[in-house]
Amino acid sequence: MSLFYGVDYYPEHWPVERWDTDIRLMKEMGLDVVRLAEFSWSLLETDEGRFNFAWLDDVIDRLQTAGIKVILGTPSAAPPAWLIAKDPTILPMNSEGKRSAFGGRHHACQTNETLREAIRSYVTTFAKKYGDHPNVVGWQIDNELGNSHHDLCHCPSCTKAFQAWLEKRYGTIEELNANWGTAFWSQDYNAFDQVDTPKWLVTAHNPSQVLDWRRFHSDVILDFHRLQYDIIREHSGDRFITHNMMGFADTVNYYELGEQLDFASHDQYPSGFFRGTVDNIPALMAAELDMIRGTKQAPFWIMEQQSGITGWNVMGRLPKPGQLALWSMQAVARGADAIVYFRWRVAAIGTEQYWHGILPHSGIPGRNYEELKELIAKTKGLLGDIHGSMPKPQAAMIFSYEQKHAIGIQPNNPDLNYQAHFQKIYNAFYRKQIQLDIIGDHAEIADYALVVAPLQYLMWPELADKYRSYVANGGTLVLDMRAGVKHRNNINYSAGALPGLLADLLGISIPEYDPLLKDSVSILWDDVRGEGRLWADLVSVDADSCRTLATYASDFYSGTAAVTVNSYGKGKAVYVGSELDDRLYDRLIEELMASNGLNMPDGGLRGLERTERQTDEKRYLFVLNHDGEAKTIAIDDGWQSSFDEQNPEEIAPYGYHIYSIDK
Ligand code: GAL
Repeated sequence: MSLFYGVDYYPEHWPVERWDTDIRLMKEMGLDVVRLAEFSWSLLETDEGRFNFAWLDDVIDRLQTAGIKVILGTPSAAPPAWLIAKDPTILPMNSEGKRSAFGGRHHACQTNETLREAIRSYVTTFAKKYGDHPNVVGWQIDNELGNSHHDLCHCPSCTKAFQAWLEKRYGTIEELNANWGTAFWSQDYNAFDQVDTPKWLVTAHNPSQVLDWRRFHSDVILDFHRLQYDIIREHSGDRFITHNMMGFADTVNYYELGEQLDFASHDQYPSGFFRGTVDNIPALMAAELDMIRGTKQAPFWIMEQQSGITGWNVMGRLPKPGQLALWSMQAVARGADAIVYFRWRVAAIGTEQYWHGILPHSGIPGRNYEELKELIAKTKGLLGDIHGSMPKPQAAMIFSYEQKHAIGIQPNNPDLNYQAHFQKIYNAFYRKQIQLDIIGDHAEIADYALVVAPLQYLMWPELADKYRSYVANGGTLVLDMRAGVKHRNNINYSAGALPGLLADLLGISIPEYDPLLKDSVSILWDDVRGEGRLWADLVSVDADSCRTLATYASDFYSGTAAVTVNSYGKGKAVYVGSELDDRLYDRLIEELMASNGLNMPDGGLRGLERTERQTDEKRYLFVLNHDGEAKTIAIDDGWQSSFDEQNPEEIAPYGYHIYSIDK
């Protein structure tokens, strides 16, 4: 399928007289596909069972005439007022027992049977009507599942569903009591219907209960997706089904959602909600893209790519000339096979009047339009050549929902945040331009030379065995603070010293630790002196095969090991007892790369990103300049500039170059 560039289009927000102009401009711009209708429930089913597809038919026909394909979204993220009036208990309830009002979006409890029945009816009608439409190429179910559900829904229907989920998981109430440690504070249950969701409490909750609640909620969303998936598969079997994910958002487990998708999609807003600078945004975006590629370990789509200023009531900065194209190429470099821009024209109505699109409010094509048009003309052929290809990193980081949830429930140090810690380590690889895969804790790791698994707080025998056999067979594994602290049900390991099930693999024990709070501790690694933050494990080196790499150099435990490496079978297991500063993470990576004989690319210049995708025949090198200054780079002999750049070694501010070489 030759779909490379597209746009999210909301014709229903504009007069019908404008549609032909829009479609002509899209065509001239080189767009192949549009996504339609993912929020249009009230316009397509105006009252229960009263469908009006005339306007959508009209748009699809016009697009078809222009040779532009269509992806249809199901509108379950925006249940209409008539449906809420029919059953107000569709509105979700927060942990304090308050129901949301109607009026935004995502205002729905996903276990509610009235809602599910209405979705069943809508999606069946919709999928039957368009399932084999010649111009409809695929489907997006719902929109950003999990978005706006941060407090999750605690209504009576969800409480019942939670009880049923627990019964299925534990079988008997005694088993639940044992797994949740309910002997503490007299929390034993006699029956599943006594168990509540973690609603507002005067104290903190039982951490095992909260972890199960997060797992349950992910399962609710997977089931909610499955309901629509089955209907669409039945009526539109050969069209693709995808979903637009949100990077590291954690309400739903994307590895599991990925199993229900033909390919993953992602919404990429580099300056969305104004979150940073050239020194942190490119790496954050890179990590999100690597994460999405990891959900199915396959190329993916961008279903919403930023195409202008972002904002709802207030706005972020104006993207600089070149940035929209650059951000698109960053996504392609890291595995995107197609880029769909959000949105065609900034809305003049509703909540998102300042979330800009390719066209401004006036509808007159300007800089965004011209920049993306030029990008499309220049790169479409290349996207065809690299379609389906992947980056081929030798190293991976494990991103785990289980660990993230558990650390989120009990951060140990109030400032310890799984995501921030993960990103800090990722950034160290990014600074050296070492490509990574980001994969789940269920993924196969045997083929990587190096695996970094941060904050392995929960540990269970199968995972410990997997790590053990990975290292025994020659891999290098890096684990760090709080590894092996808990069983999988979020209860502390107590059968021996930390790191519990990982002690033999790491060759260490941790008799004491210091949570540091806001303080830091000096760490000395050969001639590099840096700091550890957030945590200090006082590591005792037990095995003869284990060596100290760095020691603490302040506090009463000065001289105690902070970073160790154990030779285990044919490989090595590294332990890092603190969150290191950038100097020390740089030192760690140099050590890891050197001792594994891994290739160490040039540490980039500030703002410069280099990544590769590989087809069977060729390697493609993307060099991206995220900085406002031009950069001169060195490219090895043999690499061909993909676009006959006049000066292939000079990259303009916010520019990109792509090179290829035969394998
Ligand atoms: C995304 C969402 C879009 C739109 C956009 C701008 O998260 O999927 O529907 O809301 O943000 O806010």
